Amino acid sequence: MSDLTNLESDLLARIEAAADTTALEAVRVEALGKTGAVSALLKTLGSMSPDERREQGPLINGLRDRVAFAITARKTVLDAIELDARLAAGRLDLSLPAPPRRKGCVHPTMQVMDEMIAIFAELGFSIAEGPDIEDDFHNFTALNFPPKHPAREMHDTFFLQPGPDGERKLLRTHTSPVQVRTMQRTNTPPAASWIAAGREPPIRIISPGRTYRMDSDATHTPMFHQIEGLVIDRGIHMGHLKWTVDQFIARFFELESVVTRFRPHHFPFTEPSAEMDVQCDTSGGEVKIGQGCEWSEIVGCGMVHPNVLRNCGIDPDIWQGFAFGFGVDRLGRLKYGMPDLRDMFASDTRWLAHYGFSAFAAPSPAAGLS
Ligand code: PHE
Repeated sequence: MSDLTNLESDLLARIEAAADTTALEAVRVEALGKTGAVSALLKTLGSMSPDERREQGPLINGLRDRVAFAITARKTVLDAIELDARLAAGRLDLSLPAPPRRKGCVHPTMQVMDEMIAIFAELGFSIAEGPDIEDDFHNFTALNFPPKHPAREMHDTFFLQPGPDGERKLLRTHTSPVQVRTMQRTNTPPAASWIAAGREPPIRIISPGRTYRMDSDATHTPMFHQIEGLVIDRGIHMGHLKWTVDQFIARFFELESVVTRFRPHHFPFTEPSAEMDVQCDTSGGEVKIGQGCEWSEIVGCGMVHPNVLRNCGIDPDIWQGFAFGFGVDRLGRLKYGMPDLRDMFASDTRWLAHYGFSAFAAPSPAAGLS
C-alpha cells in the first residue's frame, strides 16, 4: 500500500510544516474536506467487495485518524504560538507618559499664614482665635475708639442688620478683638471652644484670621487676612517691639538681618503708635526687601494704650504691652511678587497653579520656609 503510505507521509509532513492556523486549515480541507484526498479514499470503501473492504477499511480509517490527530496536535501548537504573539503585541507599555492629572495646591495666603505662624511659634507666641462676626464692644469700644469718633468710619465697616435688641453686629475690621477677648478674664466660658479664653498676663499671642473692610483696589480687597500680635508683661517697651518685628521680618524674608524704621502714626488702641517700614529696592520693577534705599510699609504697631488694658481688666501700672498687626496677603505679595492683590481671591485656577504651593511644602523655620 505504498500509495496510502506516500499520501500519509506527504500529509503529515505538510501538517508539520504549516506555519500558521490558516495554512493548517488549507491542509485539513485538502485531506479531510468534502473533496479531500482522504475523504475520497473513504468513499471508495462503499464500492469494494466485503473482502477488500475488510482489508482496506482499517488502513484507510487508520490513515484518516492519524491525519486528524496530527492536525489537532499541530493546531494546539499553532494556537499557542499565535496567542503568545497577540499577547506580546498587545502588551501594556508602561513607558508611555500617564495622562495629566489636575493637582490641588495650597493658596499662597494660607502658605504665608503657615510660614508666619511657624516663625512666631518659634519666638514663643501661641495662637488665639475669635469670631469673624463681632460686636461693637470687642471691635471698637474696648479698643479705645471713642463713640461717634471718626476713627470708626476709618475702618469702612460692614454692619449686619440690627438684632431684636437693636444691637448692630459687624464683620470684624481687624483681629484686635481677639486680643481683647484674650485679655478679658471675664470672657469665660467663651462662646465657642475655638474662641480664645481669657488668660492671666504674661500674654504672648498672635491672632491669625480673616478681616473685612469696604475697600477694593489693586492693594485692598474687601476680605483680607491679618496676623496681629500681643505681648503683655512687666517692663515691656518699644525696644521689645522692634526686636520682635525685626526678628520676624528677617526670618520671613530669609535674610541675615534687616533695617527697619518707626514712622509715627495714630491708632486709638496704641500709644505711642507707629508704622514700621522695611528697607527695600523697587528699581527693577519688583520689590526687593532688605536692599536698596527705599522704604516699604510693613506693619502697624505700638504700645497697648492704658485705656485698652483698663477696659480689659488689666492694671496698666503693673503690666505694659506692645501690639502689632500684619496684613498677610500684603506680606505674601511682597515675598512672592503678585502684582494685584485682587487676583488672590479671584479663584482663577491658572493663577493658583502658578502661585500655589505643594501640599507637601509645609513651612518650618528649620526645614526652610519657601
Ligand atoms: N489693628 C490695626 C489695623 O488693623 C493694626 C494694629 C494692630 C496696629 C496692633 C497697631 C497695633 O489696622
